[in-house]
Parts: sequence; C-alpha cells; structure tokens
Amino acid sequence: MLSPGQIQQIEESTVPEAIGLVTQLFSEGVVFSSSLGQEDQVLTDIIFKNNLPVKIFTIDTGRLFSETYELLDRTTARYKKNIDVFFPEATAVEQFVNAKGINSFYDTVDNRKECCFIRKVKPLNRALKGAKVWITGLRAEQSGNREQMPMIEWSDEKQLYKFNPLIRWSYEDMMEYIKQHNVPYNHLHDKGFISIGCAPCTRAIEPGEDARAGRWWWETSQKECGLHESVTKVVV
Ligand code: ADX
Ligand code: SF4
Repeated sequence: MLSPGQIQQIEESTVPEAIGLVTQLFSEGVVFSSSLGQEDQVLTDIIFKNNLPVKIFTIDTGRLFSETYELLDRTTARYKKNIDVFFPEATAVEQFVNAKGINSFYDTVDNRKECCFIRKVKPLNRALKGAKVWITGLRAEQSGNREQMPMIEWSDEKQLYKFNPLIRWSYEDMMEYIKQHNVPYNHLHDKGFISIGCAPCTRAIEPGEDARAGRWWWETSQKECGLHESVTKVVV
C-alpha cells in the first residue's frame, strides 16, 4: 500500500516525475489505458519520450471513428513504440447484436450500458488483469462526476491503484502541451469534436456546449460508460 507521504509526493511532482515515481514503486505493474483522446495523447507523449516502463493499451470497441484508427497508426509510427489493442469478446458482441440489433444503444439506456459493458468494460478488465496501477487521462473539469476524483485512489473492485496524473490540468494546459510538443491528435478535434468515443455515440459540439455534450447526446442519463464508475474512495 502507498503511504500518505508517498501519495503526497506523487501529487506534488510534475507528471513525468510522478509517473516515474509510480513505476519505481510498482515496477512492472503499471499500465495506461488510452482512448487516443487529447489527454491520453499527452500522457502517451510523456511516457514514450521519457522511456517510462508503462504498458500502453487501447480498447477497440469495433465502432470507433476511422480518424481514431488513423491516429493510432500515426502515433505508433511517430514514437516507434507499440500500443496494445484489446478487443471485445466476439461471442458476446454477436449474441448482443443478434438479439438486440446493430444500433440498439439508441433505443434504451439499458441497451447502451450493455453495449458499453461488452465492448469497453469487459475488455478493460481483461487488460487490467495483473496490473498494480492503472493510469488514465481523466481530468476533473470533464464532468461533475470527475470533479471530486483524487489523483490517486485505491479501487477495491479492481484491486489496484487508479492514477489520474492530469486530474488537475485545465483544457488550456492540455492544449498548450499538445501545441508545444507537437503531439499527434485526432483530426476530428479540428471539426468541433472535444470528447471522442465510439462513432455512433459521439457528435461534434456547438460553441458554448458542455465538453461532454457530444457523448451519448440523445440521453439525459449520467454520461458515463461504466469504465470510471465503481472506484471506491481512498485510503489515505
Ligand atoms: S468514457 O468513460 O467517457 O468513455 P473518456 O472518453 O472520457 O471515457 O476517457 C477517459 C479515460 O478513460 C481515458 O483517458 C482513458 O484512460 C480511458 N478510456 C476511455 N475509452 C478508452 C478506450 N477505448 N481504450 C482505452 N482507454 C479508454
Ligand atoms: Fe456501444 Fe456506443 Fe458504448 Fe461504443 S459508446 S460501446 S457503440 S454504446
């Protein structure tokens, strides 16, 4: 377990230092889930450029934008390093699609959550197997649900630390980093897309709209897919 002093040290370090520290404390067991969003591209740049021993993976739900696949290709070519791709279980997708329809997520919130569970949450759990620390690109500003999240917290459910190094970064901090370091990003961001997930469930936003308004835009439910719902509060 991390001591309060170690947590404080992580929180007070720069992002490269904090990730470096965590890899020293947990050696092989540090993994980073990248959706290839702007936050995640910043972290990928930091991890790859500093040669930090962190395994990077992405979940290909099977419904991503072609621009996202293109970015994945561009990113691995740019850094000459690998990003592991995890897929949903074929049988589970087949059963769900054949029972409910190819786009049934538009019909009910339950269908949408089931689709997210099969296509994202289950592969995530598989990717996190054996990991001791799970790094994400979450930022507090992104949603009300994320506002209260700490930088590092213990997940009882997943039995690992969840580490959000950019939790206190503003949108401007992130954009500044991307510009300064010429970080590869999704071309959809130039077309009004902010938060990008699966193609059928993401649209561009209008000026003044909330950053996550384009995610599951037809729903009034809490706009989360289940990846970040069940972490219990820490430990210190
Ligand atoms: S979501 O819950 O609404 O889908 P969001 O797109 O904001 O999440 O991304 C938040 C964090 O969740 C990312 O920084 C990343 O760590 C993780 N994440 C989301 N989607 C994926 C994905 N397809 N593959 C890997 N990690 C992902
Ligand atoms: Fe399915 Fe949409 Fe969730 Fe992607 S975002 S897993 S397509 S419901």
